[in-house]
Amino acid sequence: EKGGFPYFMLKEISEQPDALADTLRGRLSPEGSIVLDEERLSDQDFRDIDKVFIVACGTAYHAGLIAKYAIEHWTRLPCEVEMASEFRYRDPVLDRSTLVVAISQSGETLDTLMAVKHAREQKARVLAICNTNGSTIPRESDAVLYTRCGPEVGVAATKTFLGQVAACLLVGLFLAQTRGVLYGDEVAAYVDRLQRMPELVRRTLGTVEPVRELARSLAGAKAVLFLGRHVGYPVALEGALKLKELAYMHAEGFPAGELKHGPIALIEPGLPVVVVVPSPRGRANLHGKMVSNIQEVRARGARTIVIAEEGDTAVEPYADHLIRVPATSSLLAPLVTTLPLQVFACELALARGLDVDQPRNLAKSVTVE
Ligand code: F6R
Repeated sequence: EKGGFPYFMLKEISEQPDALADTLRGRLSPEGSIVLDEERLSDQDFRDIDKVFIVACGTAYHAGLIAKYAIEHWTRLPCEVEMASEFRYRDPVLDRSTLVVAISQSGETLDTLMAVKHAREQKARVLAICNTNGSTIPRESDAVLYTRCGPEVGVAATKTFLGQVAACLLVGLFLAQTRGVLYGDEVAAYVDRLQRMPELVRRTLGTVEPVRELARSLAGAKAVLFLGRHVGYPVALEGALKLKELAYMHAEGFPAGELKHGPIALIEPGLPVVVVVPSPRGRANLHGKMVSNIQEVRARGARTIVIAEEGDTAVEPYADHLIRVPATSSLLAPLVTTLPLQVFACELALARGLDVDQPRNLAKSVTVE
């Protein structure tokens, strides 16, 4: 049942092009609009919303952090993302014009479920993004968007993370379309880009072989840092989480701009630092700022592992290891930049002789608080 792979995780990583296509299937119309038929909120409900909260745990929380960038940019609605385990203890301000998006692969995570119940008690509209049909969180929500990635057996979330990111992007575009914030041709341009993503995911997975070799060479490292900016920041957090849970290594993700406020003190000669580089075509010269950050850590002895778009030559002089991903629009980039980080963590754990399907102390679904 592992389809010829020694571990479910390797199989599930390889299934991502199809898993992503399954999440998107039927939801991108040939005319270039977003179709979300099966969820049970009306267009009027979506028009009445004035604020979005995303609640989730772990990897699903990272998907939510990515979604915030897209939702605020596309809809101009304020969007907050919160770990479900903190949400209801904070007395969040919720009412019937709040949309709460609860993201959960299993649909059984107790903290996320309790956040959903709390939100509904406060009359918020709750939309679940979930991978498991008929599970508890969708049942307790007003509406559900299934990620349809198929069963995920490996404890570490991989393909379902891609599905969660894609589902969040669909929700963001749908909100923008329904509320008339984006023009039809702007939505259509994103529909077109999303259509192409499964193929880009396939291409990226076809080029990750050198990542395996690199990961094996780092099996003895004590710690790894991950840096990102914009949507690359949650990708960095996700890369660090994968490494913690699979390789039992100290790993941390930071927004690169935060380095000088403390974390740069951690840099010592030989420390591997993985950098998720924004597109050179992106906004606010984030790319140029990131190139400076790579120089800064390298000048202090870090071994830089740079994930950058094909054609980005500016990073070349400062990359000890360069991992290429296909060019995409900034908000969709996590669908490809995450892939080498999954492979990196998986391979490093395997090189340390660990079982990547069953990491110690972890369960696939966390039904206790
Ligand atoms: C990490 C991982 C966990 C889950 C988290 C939420 O690889 O799998 O962090 O993402 O426990 O689980 P769900 O999505 O089932 O609510």
